[in-house]
Amino acid sequence: MGKFSFFEFIREQWTELPLSTADVSRKSLVVVGANIGLGNEAAVHLAQLKPKSLLITTRDEVKCEQAKADIETRSGMTGIESWPLELTSFDSVRSFVNNFEAKGCTVDALIANAGVATWNYAKTSDGYETTLQVNYLSTALLSILMLPHLVKSGTPESASRLVIVSSSMHYFAHTLNGADKWDNIIEKLNDQAYCTPSVMGDRYNLSKRDPRSVVRTRTVFSSSHSDNGRSIHRQSRFLPLQSYTKCQSLA
Ligand SMILES: NC(=O)c1ccc[n+]([C@@H]2O[C@H](COP(=O)([O-])OP(=O)(O)OC[C@H]3O[C@@H](n4cnc5c(N)ncnc54)[C@H](OP(=O)(O)O)[C@@H]3O)[C@@H](O)[C@H]2O)c1
Repeated sequence: MGKFSFFEFIREQWTELPLSTADVSRKSLVVVGANIGLGNEAAVHLAQLKPKSLLITTRDEVKCEQAKADIETRSGMTGIESWPLELTSFDSVRSFVNNFEAKGCTVDALIANAGVATWNYAKTSDGYETTLQVNYLSTALLSILMLPHLVKSGTPESASRLVIVSSSMHYFAHTLNGADKWDNIIEKLNDQAYCTPSVMGDRYNLSKRDPRSVVRTRTVFSSSHSDNGRSIHRQSRFLPLQSYTKCQSLA
């Protein structure tokens, strides 16, 4: 995907979205943050394709029940699993994956969609600035912990997929001047004194650029996997797992 001109951005708003009719009857799918927005629409669309299984996440049990009912009603699929996952908490990420493993679940595609955009500096219970943790650190942790399960289900004929939903706003992220002299980039980005209103105004953009450093890959985009419609397709990175070469430490 290239950087949109203003004209292209406006034109995109009226673009008809292609809807896939792919056969996912043998695929186990996971959508993170499926109670509203793009994640909800993606989950409804995927459910309509009748996958082998669909596991969605929301932030709490109440939203889990509501989202499950909503998606089942709109798609006609039954038996959707709906589990809590709170990305402001590393423990929540770990317990989600522990639960996934304890139940012997499999995954062919993980759509890491959940994200937050705020200009306000607020720390999570783990001590990280919220956008930094939700959009980057916890998304990275989830991706890395789920990677073995994705690798296990992928075959040469049918690669499993990790989709980290990015944003074209990452093109506007500022250069981190002086970062080569910082002892620890994450700690610096987390430092409240560093996070002036100007820095926080750029935080969402930066958080959407960083997923590229979570997993380095040669092939980042495949139009043949634009199953979720163009808004998802345009703003996501589809990463064939066999091209994964390196993961950044969460240190
Ligand atoms: N909409 C756009 O124009 C656009 C453009 C480019 C990229 N994106 C990206 O697309 C993704 C979805 O955006 P959207 O517009 O659909 O946003 P949205 O409507 O605000 O939905 C965001 C989803 O993420 C969940 N979420 C937020 N904070 C979370 C946390 N701490 N732990 C777990 N889940 C959390 C939300 O749950 P709650 O409802 O409980 O908060 C919700 O399910 C995001 O990654 C966003 O950055 C969107």
